[in-house]
Amino acid sequence: MTPDNEYSKFTKALLRWHSMGGRHNLPWQKKQTAYRVWLSEIMLQQTQVSTVIPYFDKFIKKYQTISDLANADIDEILKLWEGLGYYSRARNLHKTALIVSSDLAGRFPETVSGLMALPGIGRSTAGAILSLAFQIPTPILDGNVKRVLTRYHAITGWPGDTKTEKKLWAFAEKYTPSVQIRNYTQAIMDLGATLCKRSTPSCSKCPLSSGCVAYNEAIVSKFPEKKVKKVKQQDLYLCVIKNNENEVVLAKREAKGIWGGLWCFPEKADDVSVGTLLNSIGIGKAQKIKELAPFNHKLTHINFRIFPILVVVTNRIKIGPSFIWQPLSKNWDVGVPKPVTKIVDILVASKPKLLQ
Ligand code: ADE
Repeated sequence: MTPDNEYSKFTKALLRWHSMGGRHNLPWQKKQTAYRVWLSEIMLQQTQVSTVIPYFDKFIKKYQTISDLANADIDEILKLWEGLGYYSRARNLHKTALIVSSDLAGRFPETVSGLMALPGIGRSTAGAILSLAFQIPTPILDGNVKRVLTRYHAITGWPGDTKTEKKLWAFAEKYTPSVQIRNYTQAIMDLGATLCKRSTPSCSKCPLSSGCVAYNEAIVSKFPEKKVKKVKQQDLYLCVIKNNENEVVLAKREAKGIWGGLWCFPEKADDVSVGTLLNSIGIGKAQKIKELAPFNHKLTHINFRIFPILVVVTNRIKIGPSFIWQPLSKNWDVGVPKPVTKIVDILVASKPKLLQ
């Protein structure tokens, strides 16, 4: 926060908008004590205002003070929380109530670090409690605020990413005024929730539109950017064990994990020899081993590199119960994953080269 930033265009426009456009009749705005603000902020984490209102009313009626909440049974609290979701919030609520009422003489700390030391309170929730309850100018950065700042500055990258979040906190600090902190904090949250919505934002009504980079460049819908999914790379060695009757071995995969319960060519770990794999199935010796060309098989979260290995054995040897001999075709009674049919296609297409 800089001393003169209360005059910044962003902050002034929001404060001006607040009296007309902001929300003024939310139940937790009536008496903004630390207890009421804290309780509402915990409930509002990842939950919409309309969902929270009846829960806030129920809790405040039943637990009028923080010591009432501290003295309550956790099962009773969890019961009252039922339907609000993310139940760790309710457990942390009780823990914090116990700490504040017994160790801190019923008073919430008035610093970010003091508040963040309590269960369930992160930096943004600490900022909201300080700003709304104690009127100590402190930035907040919840999901709504992230969206407003991301669009206003056309900040690329997923807002949950550490680097992006750091930039956003810097802007949140810069715009936090040293006066009218309650109104400002409520205004930026309200703007995010009511105008700068995730989909179909009401830019024509927005008090920040003239300075909003995303709006002025007509790229609002590009922000905030989505999380880039990390795609794992994994190598998979699949052994096509074929006998002289043109049958192949299929193995039932474990119920959990990739392709759980499906039948697949036996998988060999990278550091295990084909001979060891054959022994584990009950097959003695290979006549011929040939590595086939690897190919990629992409799933949403995993990029497999499939290494098929053709293993020719003489005849139909009796094999263990989780293995079956099946004709080398695709008309199997059992379910198989895609790479298996792809390998069959490769083998059949190569005929007679590979299958001799
Ligand atoms: N979201 C998080 N805190 C809020 C508050 N105090 N009012 C409205 N929405 C919110």
